[in-house]
Amino acid sequence: MSQLELIDVTKRFGDVTAVNRLNLRVEKGECFSFLGPSGCGKTTTLRMIAGFEDLDEGELRVEGSVYSSSFKKFYIPPEKRDFGMVFQAFAVWPHLTVRENVAFPLRIRHRPRHEIEERVKMALTSTNLLKIQDSYPGRLSGGEQQRIALARAIAINPKVMLLDEPLSNLDAKLREEMRFEIKDLQKRFGFTIIYVTHDQAEAMALSDRMLVMDNGVVQQIGKPLEIYHKPANRFVFSFIGLSNFIPVSVRDGAAIIDGTDRIAAEGVPPELGSRAVMACRPSDISFVPESETERAVPAVLLRRTYLGDIVDMKLKVGAAELRVQKHVKNALPQEGERCFIRFNSVLWYKD
Ligand SMILES: Nc1ncnc2c1ncn2[C@@H]1O[C@H](COP(=O)(O)OP(=O)(O)O)[C@@H](O)[C@H]1O
Ligand SMILES: [Mg+2]
Repeated sequence: MSQLELIDVTKRFGDVTAVNRLNLRVEKGECFSFLGPSGCGKTTTLRMIAGFEDLDEGELRVEGSVYSSSFKKFYIPPEKRDFGMVFQAFAVWPHLTVRENVAFPLRIRHRPRHEIEERVKMALTSTNLLKIQDSYPGRLSGGEQQRIALARAIAINPKVMLLDEPLSNLDAKLREEMRFEIKDLQKRFGFTIIYVTHDQAEAMALSDRMLVMDNGVVQQIGKPLEIYHKPANRFVFSFIGLSNFIPVSVRDGAAIIDGTDRIAAEGVPPELGSRAVMACRPSDISFVPESETERAVPAVLLRRTYLGDIVDMKLKVGAAELRVQKHVKNALPQEGERCFIRFNSVLWYKD
């Protein structure tokens, strides 16, 4: 039985359909991310799971029990769901100490005192806050405040943790550290995580599985690498990782980049007709010797930039400009130099 199940869930705000017939199952212990651009419906979906929003259509089940149902006009209020929650603007209460902040959700649930003490201690220990438990949050760093929000969510011993862009207020380095800490906590406590983010690197790093949504509609559900290598459509391709979309004309299944006369790749699906878009990752393009005429396309290197071990390059190929990324150890052309490239892996989309 799935931990969480959303069946045909729809939510509207006036004319805006924020979430459109969403279907999803999340298994126990999974770290599952919602990824998509701002305004695509991630927070709304999470708020429906938490019980802060009603459903216009559909049903939400937790371990097989109905928690919200538009058909049955039924819903369980948030405080009865016992989900841990950390939101983007994580509110830690400035007038309460760290310990009091973490104890707060247990107090409003009227848990016995010894249980509160035990749980708070456990949550503070596991988030490394024990030493500063008597401090007030105003004096603490962003990372420490973030940990308070996490500790507070852990303290109630939730089956499910709902995290809405919990790291977006932190700087890049801290964000990366906190990712590992969240993963660690999950391993230790075994809760299921729903993690909302618009940052694809974060989703790729954390998730067992994820969904990509756009405009309230699910575009793809799968494992991070599956989505990276087999994007369901052009939107997903462009949202995950870097991408080139190259307009081509098609002759007998072979693609010719506009402004060139060499075949760049073969195997264009016939249904696309005489025009198509060839999609390719910057790392899936190689430089080849001029003698290697088979599928080598002439290009000019416009500029190159060093990103640590990776060189980021812009190339002109016929009428198109491409992004190529290679490790510095490769033999690479100079700026302004003519070269030949080969497309190692491509996908095809409609023009
Ligand atoms: N309370 C609300 N009232 C009206 N419109 C809302 C409300 N909450 C969200 N929306 C709209 O629903 C859409 C999805 O929003 P949201 O779920 O917050 O997206 P995300 O979290 O992916 O950025 C947006 O168009 C947003 O403007
Ligand atoms: Mg949001």
